[in-house]
Amino acid sequence: MERADRPTEPAARSSAASGAGRDGERLIRIRAAEPGDAEATRAIYNPEVLESTVTFDLRPRTLVEQQAWIVEHSGGHLALVAVDETSPGDATDVVGFGSLSPYRSRPAYSTTVENSVYVRRDRQGQGIGRAILTELVHRATAHGFHAMIARIVGDHEASIALHRAGGFAIIGTEREVGRKFNRWLDVVLMQRML
Ligand SMILES: CC(C)(COP(=O)(O)OP(=O)(O)OC[C@H]1O[C@@H](n2cnc3c(N)ncnc32)[C@H](O)[C@@H]1OP(=O)(O)O)[C@@H](O)C(=O)NCCC(=O)NCCS
Repeated sequence: MERADRPTEPAARSSAASGAGRDGERLIRIRAAEPGDAEATRAIYNPEVLESTVTFDLRPRTLVEQQAWIVEHSGGHLALVAVDETSPGDATDVVGFGSLSPYRSRPAYSTTVENSVYVRRDRQGQGIGRAILTELVHRATAHGFHAMIARIVGDHEASIALHRAGGFAIIGTEREVGRKFNRWLDVVLMQRML
């Protein structure tokens, strides 16, 4: 189900969803995020801010903040969205997003990027996170970055498994560096060389 017209933006197959395309699978396109994706991406992100420890943000993003975040994430430090294009009516149905950000501000770290991946709750477990992470690795490599780091809250088995499947290995744990919902939180560091 690869789209021949944009070979650098791979499609992901998802057989878990119902009401799918001709062959019973959904067509997911990964593309660069645009300011117009701000509402859809913050609708994916903010429930995680408010209800989970997977992000260490404590306050939901406003529309203006999310627009600014997308504008900041261009060039090498980019943001991608996954769009369900199974049927024409779904062309703007953003089901996930990912990003590459600077790992540290000091200049000698500039060859390393930190990534994030978020999938809409009703579309998790369908291969979308894997498709986003694969494209982030592809684009980080193409841009010339050397190393990629994921920082994952300690008990987050799904994200640790996703990154392990994407070629990342655990390189350490920061103990109780975060606090949210009255709990101390570890951060697992995972790294992949590019
Ligand atoms: C973590 C997250 C990005 C995974 O995305 P996803 O689309 O649900 O994952 P996929 O369906 O692509 O799964 C890819 C691999 O990840 C792992 N995985 C995904 N969900 C998992 C789960 N619930 N338990 C264990 N492993 C899981 C598996 O290795 C899976 O491969 P498999 O299907 O061959 O077993 C998604 O659950 C999510 O967005 N969660 C909320 C936001 C978040 O936590 N982001 C990461 C912050 S560090």
